[in-house]
This record gives sequence, C-alpha cells and structure tokens, in this order.
Amino acid sequence: MIGIYDSGLGGLSVWRELRQYTQARLLYFGDTKHVPYGEKTAQELEGYFWDIVGFFQKQGCEGVVVACNTSSALVLPRVREKAPLPVFGILESAVMATLAVTDGRVGLLATQGTVESGAYQNAFQAASPDTMLFARSAPRLVPLVEQGQIRSKVAREALVDYLTPLLAEDIDTLLLGCTHYPFLEDLIREVVGDTIRIVNPAPTMARQIAEAFPHVTKGPGASQGTQFWVSGNPKAFQTTAELLLGESLPAVGFYTMSGENI
Ligand code: DGL
Repeated sequence: MIGIYDSGLGGLSVWRELRQYTQARLLYFGDTKHVPYGEKTAQELEGYFWDIVGFFQKQGCEGVVVACNTSSALVLPRVREKAPLPVFGILESAVMATLAVTDGRVGLLATQGTVESGAYQNAFQAASPDTMLFARSAPRLVPLVEQGQIRSKVAREALVDYLTPLLAEDIDTLLLGCTHYPFLEDLIREVVGDTIRIVNPAPTMARQIAEAFPHVTKGPGASQGTQFWVSGNPKAFQTTAELLLGESLPAVGFYTMSGENI
C-alpha cells in the first residue's frame, strides 16, 4: 500500500492520476485540521509530516507520496534522510514536466510557502539556467477549492488578479505549483487563453511513483481501491471530494493528529 497526503483535497489531483498507473492499494490522507498549509512554518509542516508517516506505517504503507508542493518544498529537505519509508515529493516531477514543454518563460502559481521557500527558483536554476521563472503566490485559491468553488465568480476574480501579472511577463507556460489548482484548470484556461501551456505535474509524478514500485505496477489500470482518511470533518471532505472528482467515494475515516510540533 502507498500513502498519499496533502493538507486537504488538493492531493486528490495526484491520487486520480496515480490510480491509473499502479495496482497498489492506496491510502489518501487529507490533513483538513491544518489546511491551508501555504502559510504554515517549515517546523509546523514537519510535525504534521512525522505524525502522518507514523499513521501510514501503522496502516502498512510501503511509501509516502507528499502530494503537496508546500510540504515538498519546505519539509522534504529536512526529513528525506531520516524517513523510515521512501518519500516522494512533487517538485522534481513538476520541473521535468515544465521543461518538457516550455520555450523558456514560465509562470509559477503556488502557495506563499512554496514561493518564499525558493525551492522552485533553485530547482529551475539548477536544471535549466536559461529558463526565466516568474513566481506568484495565490493565497485565496486553496480555501476556494476546499469549499468546492471551482467555477464561481469569486474564483474567476481571484484568478484574474493572480494571473494578470504573470501574463504581463509574456509567459509561454504556466506551472500549477499547488495540487489544489488542477481543480481550477477550466477557469484558469478561460483566463489565460488558448496559447499558454498549462502544466499539471500530477501525471508525471504518478508515473515516477508507479515505476518505483514495479512489483505492484502492471501498467495502466484501476488500483485495488483506496482508503480515505482525514484529520478534520470526514463528511465535509467526502462531499466536496465527490463534487471535485465527479464520482462517489467510500466512507472517510477520522484520524486524530497528535504530535503537532517536533
Ligand atoms: N495543495 C498543497 C500544495 O500543493 C497545499 C496547499 C495549502 O494547503 O495551502 O501546496
């Protein structure tokens, strides 16, 4: 079994890809008690990471997918060497997927924590020094997705505010640097127009994870099923997740987060 986590619903954009590539059982954990992660400190996010990894271990997981850009940027550099299970972050996949399509001017839309960490700026600089990266934090978007507001007027206005300065930089590619944002992709497309490439890193990440577990990867196909757990309100999570995904989910479990700080 592979454990996947995010602050809330966003990681479902990774989960829905991952299940296409692996036959492994999956455990999805939404830390809805602490959403949004975008304004949390690295120390707070590390505390949540260890709590969730402990839960995954007890449930029998063989790997941890950090389906969250903010934790991938802020926590992974602190924990990678110490973690008891293989841990997968999203940044490498996102950079790879972006460099495969960009002509050299990339707009990054991400949380405050991700943008301020400098992790993407450093990763693009290391992989492709000639690529220009224009980063913009978008704090209003995660709460809107958590409320299921993926087509609302308010969401459109927020996107116009955040994307207009990036469009002014003449970007050719927009990287969705938060796993919540793919749920806004239809609205984002309307705002940016037809010519800009939009990169959702989830498919690239899902392929890389599936390749790391070859004993349970049998090519494309439905996974064996997923357990869903949250640290907040299970019913609220299920209702909005079903709205975002357009499908029904099994009953969602509740896990009490304990060690909130390291
Ligand atoms: N979806 C996460 C990310 O990719 C966390 C967003 C948040 O909770 O602020 O960054």
